[in-house]
Amino acid sequence: MKQLRIPGPTPCPPEVLQAMSRQMINHRGEEFRNILADVTAKTKQVFQTKNELLILTSAGTGGLEAAVVNHLSPGDKVLGVSIGLFGDRFANIAKIYGADVTLLKFEMGKAADPDMVKKALDADPKIRAVLVTHNETSTGITNDLAALAKVIKSYDKLLMVDAVSSMSSVNVPVDAWKLDVAVSASQKGWMVPPGLAFISMSEAAVKAQAVSKMPKFYFDLAKARKSAELRETPWTPAISVFFGMQVALDMLLKEGLQNVYARHIALAKTTREGMKSLGLDLLADEKYASNTVTAVRANHGIDYKKLSKIMREEFDITIAGGQGELEGKIFRIGHMGWAFEPEIKECIAALKLALPKAGYVK
Ligand SMILES: Cc1ncc(COP(=O)(O)O)c(C=O)c1O
Repeated sequence: MKQLRIPGPTPCPPEVLQAMSRQMINHRGEEFRNILADVTAKTKQVFQTKNELLILTSAGTGGLEAAVVNHLSPGDKVLGVSIGLFGDRFANIAKIYGADVTLLKFEMGKAADPDMVKKALDADPKIRAVLVTHNETSTGITNDLAALAKVIKSYDKLLMVDAVSSMSSVNVPVDAWKLDVAVSASQKGWMVPPGLAFISMSEAAVKAQAVSKMPKFYFDLAKARKSAELRETPWTPAISVFFGMQVALDMLLKEGLQNVYARHIALAKTTREGMKSLGLDLLADEKYASNTVTAVRANHGIDYKKLSKIMREEFDITIAGGQGELEGKIFRIGHMGWAFEPEIKECIAALKLALPKAGYVK
């Protein structure tokens, strides 16, 4: 395939793929212990944190589940701030495990309003924790997490953040913003395949873990911590993805995090300008438009299924559709991780030819 323009999994650099083709090693041997220590230390650099960080073999959703079940107890009052499908999912995990969740939902395509969050916290002083999605991949919106965190931490609530599709592509200074728990996953901006979730925990989070009563086994962070002290993981890790992470982290740090963020800002701008130049409408409130994924309205007669087929079959470019209630109403272009300007321009040029064949009239 020429281009995988979906918001994760994202394409991997050849160096990463090559590193991953290595033979297996003993996951309880010295070589893997060194790799785990190296990957953990460098991932913490990307999280911009001195907090503890654990690496789980799982999808991003497993990281979110670990965040919920290790820090909360059944009956705990939780505020779920949702601007889309992934915000709903985070809140739903808490609900399924017995938390008393208030869902503060914002319109699709809009960011969360810190004043409304403040009102919700004022309305119920018993709220213990707040769940926030940093970058809502389903709508292409990035919340103003600095502003939200400022409000939430001024109430001293436990702040748990889904940074799955922002961390490593967008500036997320975990310590500076006082994020108690932050979660990301390898298949997004990290330039490696799916398989690993990363979770950082502040001192307050570690204290909350000690009193958490939600059931857990595979995602029990106490077990992960005990193993991490021996530079091991409790269960068999995705060794190949660790091989890839070592190379990808070195690439990210060599490029320099500020340069990586600047590259994503530029890619997003090119994508948005390109869509507008084709006469298309963006879903996002542009002030909060994501630097990792752009959501475009499938209006003006566009048949998304046809568009996606033409893009794939005639141009060898895979784009993403809408999810949940946005299915058929939008399409999305991923531009995170190992992504560069010429590919985005090629994608825009292909869309220009494909759109009229998919019913687009303007
Ligand atoms: C913001 C966000 N949260 C959570 C997830 C879930 O990750 P996974 O599919 O790895 O479980 C995704 C994946 O697209 C995401 O974009």
